[in-house]
Amino acid sequence: MSSFYVTTPIYYVNARPHLGHAYTTIIADTLKRFYALLGMDARMLTGTDEHGDKIVKAANKENKSPKEFVDGISHEFSTLWKDLKIDYDQFIRTTDPEHKKSVQTLLQKIYDKGDIYYGEYGGHYCFGCERFYTEKELEDGLCPQHKTKPEYISEKNYFFKMSKYQEWLKQYILDNPDFIRPERYRNEVLAMLEGNVLEDLCISRPKSRLEWGIELPFDKDYVCYVWFDALANYISALGWGNSDDLSKFNTYWPAEHLVAKDILKPHAIFWPTMLKAADLPIYKHLNVHGYWLVKDTKMSKSLGNVVDPRFASEHFGLDAFRYFLLRDMHFGSDASYSEEALISRINSDLANDLGNLFSRVLSMNAKYFAKEVPALGELTEEDEQIFASVDNAAQNYIQLFKEVRFSQALEGLWEPIRLMNKYVDSQAPWTLFKEGKSERLATVIRVLLENMYKISVLLYPVMPESSQKMQVQLGKVFSLHAKLLDDLLSCKVHLRTGASIAEASNLFPRLEKPAENPEEKKQNTKNAKQKKTKAKEENADTALIEFADFQKLDLRVGTILVAELHPDADKLLRFEVDLGEEKPRQIISGIAEWYKPADLVGHKVVVVANLPPRKLRGLVSHGMILTAEKGEHLSLLTSSAPNGAKIS
Ligand code: MSP
Repeated sequence: MSSFYVTTPIYYVNARPHLGHAYTTIIADTLKRFYALLGMDARMLTGTDEHGDKIVKAANKENKSPKEFVDGISHEFSTLWKDLKIDYDQFIRTTDPEHKKSVQTLLQKIYDKGDIYYGEYGGHYCFGCERFYTEKELEDGLCPQHKTKPEYISEKNYFFKMSKYQEWLKQYILDNPDFIRPERYRNEVLAMLEGNVLEDLCISRPKSRLEWGIELPFDKDYVCYVWFDALANYISALGWGNSDDLSKFNTYWPAEHLVAKDILKPHAIFWPTMLKAADLPIYKHLNVHGYWLVKDTKMSKSLGNVVDPRFASEHFGLDAFRYFLLRDMHFGSDASYSEEALISRINSDLANDLGNLFSRVLSMNAKYFAKEVPALGELTEEDEQIFASVDNAAQNYIQLFKEVRFSQALEGLWEPIRLMNKYVDSQAPWTLFKEGKSERLATVIRVLLENMYKISVLLYPVMPESSQKMQVQLGKVFSLHAKLLDDLLSCKVHLRTGASIAEASNLFPRLEKPAENPEEKKQNTKNAKQKKTKAKEENADTALIEFADFQKLDLRVGTILVAELHPDADKLLRFEVDLGEEKPRQIISGIAEWYKPADLVGHKVVVVANLPPRKLRGLVSHGMILTAEKGEHLSLLTSSAPNGAKIS
């Protein structure tokens, strides 16, 4: 059986997992399931990157030892993946003893080859990036990523002769056009290799400065540079360099790597040259995606705009969330996350198109054929069109999936889904039923059921649970085997005539309005308050109104006849105010914090009498009692004028 091996970046444990991490992990899971569907022995690796300065700093901040700290956050990642039902085979941690051993084997191998040397180096070191920058790379003297001033550090270190492999790497990328994909990232890497002479890579840190790392096997005064250590995870996880049993490595390597554009250089330049120096086969592809943005900005903890994938998947449904992520990001480009976009995508594609197709067809089948699969009769041109469009979309879908173009693959698959909905309309089974054309009715329903089954299988990698639910409804659940997709596509009929199937169901309920997660809600209320205060301040300074605007106000004097607590709100009082009209007016006012109702009866107040009626916690207010406010103080505006007197 052929094999497939997909990896995610191993995530830093100095921050908690968010949507960005979840996206890469979800697409890795999707790819694993896709290749399993193709009949391959598919394996997925994810994990956490736990060494380096950043981690030590984050641990210090929380008054924890590095180990205690990394254990906590690594656990958060692994439990999130379990909650998101990620089917990973292995979760690697760079603090695992096996991994440490592999890194040392790799270092020793390259050292013995003569590709690691000891030298003096002075450079601008950014602690955020954990790397040295050359003068040329800095922007106005600052780190281009963190916009902070790097520290100039001069010290003796070990270097990997990366420059030696520059020409080889360039040629390798030219000879293998989809080695780094999409193309824009390949071009970016080629530009890095063509324009400059690659510098050798500093791969050590003196223990005097940093102890939290893997000791160099040839010098115990140094630990390994965190990126050199981290990249090796992809092979150490397969047992390379830490065990005599190389069967896993031989079965699964080389890998298909998934990363975002932030870590292009280490994966596209450091890693292949490291593999080459160690005489190991180069990975298959580097698949590079863009960023998920929130309101056009990259998510970050400090901006408070990180999206919590657990909340989103629980709230909108895990499969629907997965579908949205895969459908709305064009692999390689940035995409915007918003609950509005997510709801609109789910409602249109899942509730309207796919869900509707299932519920219509299953309910007709229940009504006309007592929930049994009807027989397929002679096929018309329209029937053949449905089969052809599903087969055609399936072929494209498979090809596009292999090219990691998930969004286009799904877009294409939705064409036959929409076509099937139209086919229901044009074939009008209800008319066939009325006219007693039962054989034709059976064929129409069977054409639909067979093609719905195919779609349900194809959707397994993207929406595993819904795929299974659809199959349960159709009375046939697939099991993975080598020829599954070949069989699926080479044959028109998969269901058994007479087999019983489900009644209509609501696979993807329509979503009504964006959810507010408790954290966001707090933040939104805070923002709204700040905005209101700011607007007030601005208005106080600048806003002049026209006299005509003032004249629009109907301000009148009235006497409070009744004052009592609002039955459903602590802050509100209910009044009946005599404004000299036929009947007293009911007015609801938010002044319960300042006044006791009994103290107000008989008081004369000023009322805005021409506001539209407004319901406040179930009671309608016909106006507003005016108050004067400063800081904590609030008092009612009063007047000795008779009831109904107009203020002008
Ligand atoms: N530890 C290194 C990777 C070492 S791999 C040998 C690292 N870790 S990280 O925690 O910063 O993770 C970066 C990765 O997280 C990105 O490459 C991407 O996979 C994912 N994402 C983090 N934020 C993201 C977005 N806003 N959008 C999409 N993915 C992003 O770098």
